[in-house]
Amino acid sequence: MSAENPSIWRSAALLGLVAVLGTALLAVVHTMTRDRITAQERRVVLEQLHQVLPDSAYDNALHEDVLRITDEAFFQTQEPVTVYRARLGTEPVAVIMQVVAPDGYNGDIKLLVGVYADGSISGVRVVSHRETPGLGDPIEHQRSDWILDFNGRSLGNPEPAGWAVRRDGGVFDQFTGATITPRAVVEAVERALRYFEARHEYLFSYPEPEQT
Ligand SMILES: Cc1cc2nc3c(=O)[nH]c(=O)nc-3n(C[C@H](O)[C@H](O)[C@H](O)COP(=O)(O)O)c2cc1C
Repeated sequence: MSAENPSIWRSAALLGLVAVLGTALLAVVHTMTRDRITAQERRVVLEQLHQVLPDSAYDNALHEDVLRITDEAFFQTQEPVTVYRARLGTEPVAVIMQVVAPDGYNGDIKLLVGVYADGSISGVRVVSHRETPGLGDPIEHQRSDWILDFNGRSLGNPEPAGWAVRRDGGVFDQFTGATITPRAVVEAVERALRYFEARHEYLFSYPEPEQT
């Protein structure tokens, strides 16, 4: 490249400018999309909290009594798990954990799992997923009642071997031609129950627990 040829330098500078502008534009679009998805998920979560736990069961503001817990061994994700704590006065009523099933057919399935203080499930709902329409999407309550089968269940109901889809010897239905999605959800719900069993004192410690 010759310093006497200014058009080459102009072209190089132009190319550099285009690259910088392109990268900046991509970064802006990425941030805006990510923020929109996060805001949309937050709206869905707030709407679904009362589906997972009846409003009459508690009298505190769930979204103001929140823990964020990082425990990859239990939750199989490096992302912090959000836990909403429900109380009646100072009595612990339930927690709602926003967990991830990382092994859906198309990746993460985000779930809300409500667990009463006695360890029984108050409800489970899907917050977001990318499973195939018509195959994996009956996990959505809008599409089927499958998710209601978790209501009232606990680690003892069914026994540990039953916490699986029927294809794997458990009690939960799979879908026609689609076992991967319901298997991922069943396993994530069971993990949430195991975490609750192991750490319920910590989860309910009031007002602000120390994370260990
Ligand atoms: C295009 C395509 C999309 C699929 N999407 C899903 C899905 O969202 N969830 C799922 O469990 N299985 C899905 N499957 C099926 C899985 O590959 C797998 O065969 C199935 O989960 C195993 O269930 P089965 O043992 O009942 O056949 C899909 C398959 C294809 C070809």
